[in-house]
Amino acid sequence: MLESVAPESRVPLDEHLQGSVFYQENKTGQPVKGHFYIESYGCQMNFNDSEIVASVLAETGYQPTRDVDIADLILINTCSIREKAEDTVRKRLQTFQRQKATQPGLLVGVLGCMAERLKSKFLEEEKLVDLVVGPDAYRDLPRLIERADDGEKGLNVFLSREETYADINPLRLDQNGVTSFISIMRGCDNMCSFCVVPFTRGRERSRDPYSILAEATDLFQKGYREATLLGQNVDSYSWSHPDTGEQVNFAQLLAMVAEIHPDLRVRFSTSHPKDITNEVLETIARYENICKYIHLPVQSGSSRILDLMNRTYDAPWYRERIEAIRRIIPDCAVSSDIIAGFCTETEEDHQDTLEMMAFARYSMSYMFAYSERPGTLAARKYPDDIPEEVKKRRLGEIIQLQNQISLAHNQADIGKTFSVLIEGDSKRNDQEHKGRNTQNKMIVFPKTGSHGPGDYVRVKVTDATSATLRGEVVHDVEQ
Ligand code: 5AD
Ligand code: SF4
Repeated sequence: MLESVAPESRVPLDEHLQGSVFYQENKTGQPVKGHFYIESYGCQMNFNDSEIVASVLAETGYQPTRDVDIADLILINTCSIREKAEDTVRKRLQTFQRQKATQPGLLVGVLGCMAERLKSKFLEEEKLVDLVVGPDAYRDLPRLIERADDGEKGLNVFLSREETYADINPLRLDQNGVTSFISIMRGCDNMCSFCVVPFTRGRERSRDPYSILAEATDLFQKGYREATLLGQNVDSYSWSHPDTGEQVNFAQLLAMVAEIHPDLRVRFSTSHPKDITNEVLETIARYENICKYIHLPVQSGSSRILDLMNRTYDAPWYRERIEAIRRIIPDCAVSSDIIAGFCTETEEDHQDTLEMMAFARYSMSYMFAYSERPGTLAARKYPDDIPEEVKKRRLGEIIQLQNQISLAHNQADIGKTFSVLIEGDSKRNDQEHKGRNTQNKMIVFPKTGSHGPGDYVRVKVTDATSATLRGEVVHDVEQ
């Protein structure tokens, strides 16, 4: 796969194109109206949104199912970030279309970013679906489903300036019971020129910190031991109380969540290099349970390209932020997103990106060939002028360098001992556990018999590949 390298061990904001199906029994006690099946694509926020949708539907008596064949309602939560993501969704919709032909009364709905981007096109021109619901309209789903049941089309793609779903407790589906995700804000105001997100998810808004704290506390009480705070740009989290004027920024929010319990690990994604402050870095350093891992997408190592991308920082600024991380949190791992072949990118610009990667020594990266998205600033202003073969070759070089760096990064851990939170069985062998260390590296190790998911164990690393560490439990500790 040339598009990206996403080792199974990482949970990024953008977990590419892996459709996921949710399943859990209905526990609301509502009379069952029918079954819904939901598939999610794209970033971790989208997966979290599907849990909000599941919660709204469960309240109205719909029960989730993993079996698409018994579903009365099929929902597909979509991603528009790259063309490939949209192509995958279209193919799935065609499959559901065939199912519709044999199953009268079956409703099919498109949620999320593609719903927002293509709006009524799905309903009118393509006649593929019954429901089109944008990311800020999930509360309206019960009404829209009723309309669709009556033979009308259900469309709501209204983007809100306020909606944060703060009061909705997401229905945790298909989870390991140890690691969880909490959306702390929605939308994005950055307008990176390549990015469709500001158009599909609307303006940035921050969620009430006390509702975030309540959700994290509830998760901890249910046995979860890790909460990842999600937002397109978490460092610009900013909330003020409408009446008292009390203000909370991201560093303060991190500290508040970390204070819930020392055994609750706190992670966050995604950070923006222009906004990550020393106050945030110092907060990470201060709390043992805030993980020493920052996803800090550089996108390009060339200041000229960064300017065209409207990233609002240049290469020296980014290097300074990496140096600040090393100074304030010496054991912190950093990962990145990198785009190859953005408009007008020269070989020299590409070399700048490779140099930046060597400088930042990312533990891992998500790497993409530039894909022009209709309506974005770049699509309007710059020609997509880098030939596909050149994009692919540059992307290949970027991937190759990242693999070398990741391998060296991981090999440097051999002989070290880490506190690892057990997440479950390793994928390949049920005699082994898997878990991550604070730097977000996945470590696989033989089971000891006395530990299980949700426990912290000390694991000494004995072997490493570019994607995974192997090790063995040395002795127990309280984290
Ligand atoms: N083409 C390629 N990659 C993109 N990304 C966002 N938009 C595009 C695009 N048009 C990448 C960026 C971003 C990640 C989530 O997806 O690297 O950080
Ligand atoms: Fe897109 Fe930039 Fe916002 Fe990330 S920060 S969602 S890349 S506009």
